[in-house]
Amino acid sequence: MTELEIYPSGSARPALVGRKLLCLEETDSTNTYLKRLSASGSADDGTVVIASRQTAGRGRRGRSFESPEGLGLYLSVLLRPMLSPERLLPVTALTGTAVCNAIEAVSDFRPNLKWPNDLLLNGKKICGILAETVPIAGEPPALIIGIGVNVLHRPEDFSPAVREIASSLFHELGQPISQPALAAAEIAALDEMYHVLLSGKLGAWLETYRRDCITLGREVQILHNNGEREQVTALDIDEQFGLIVRRPDGTRTVVRSGEVSIR
Ligand code: BTN
Repeated sequence: MTELEIYPSGSARPALVGRKLLCLEETDSTNTYLKRLSASGSADDGTVVIASRQTAGRGRRGRSFESPEGLGLYLSVLLRPMLSPERLLPVTALTGTAVCNAIEAVSDFRPNLKWPNDLLLNGKKICGILAETVPIAGEPPALIIGIGVNVLHRPEDFSPAVREIASSLFHELGQPISQPALAAAEIAALDEMYHVLLSGKLGAWLETYRRDCITLGREVQILHNNGEREQVTALDIDEQFGLIVRRPDGTRTVVRSGEVSIR
């Protein structure tokens, strides 16, 4: 394990994300690693963990996340924003925009976003994001945001089921992407995102999100957290990055969690 302390200098504001950076050969899951660190009382705001491989990578809804050695960038960050739960609502979507910014910075290609935060290239998922909260005694809960980017996979590197829906930057762009460069770009983009979240000035990020979001204007199926499914039309993104939808009976509602599949 390598542990680096980063003290950026010459910047207009101090970096929050990546001040402490842990680089691991292997762990079960970088999110779970940060949960353990936080339970032991030693996780500073902005701590980042990167692993070359995960033996039990986790996705949303209890799914696993395939994490073979060296092919993907598996990165998690722990944030301790002292904000109300309402001000934290945008964070999952904002992370999607941050990772789009990072990928564009290293490749000149900008992925699309499927609400709330799946990154797609040519309709295939190239990155998944898992945001979780962990309780901290006497303080607002900490956020752990895990990002898994498929960087160098060939189709045969995915299991058959995942291959149907997922791809990698290398396969879609036809060019290898440097993992260290992408990691540095992600940390910089997450740092900017965190400052924006803390400032509450999300307007420009909301506009960028709307531009990137391919869900808007489509007939989609919402998969609610309780397992129910609903056919709706996706209309817009609200100020807290919820998905404004129209039901078949014409009523409108805002979906704040869950997943969508695009028909
Ligand atoms: C999803 O699409 O369902 C979310 C996938 C999130 C994967 C990342 S990889 C880094 C971090 N560690 C994990 O175990 N999961 C996240």
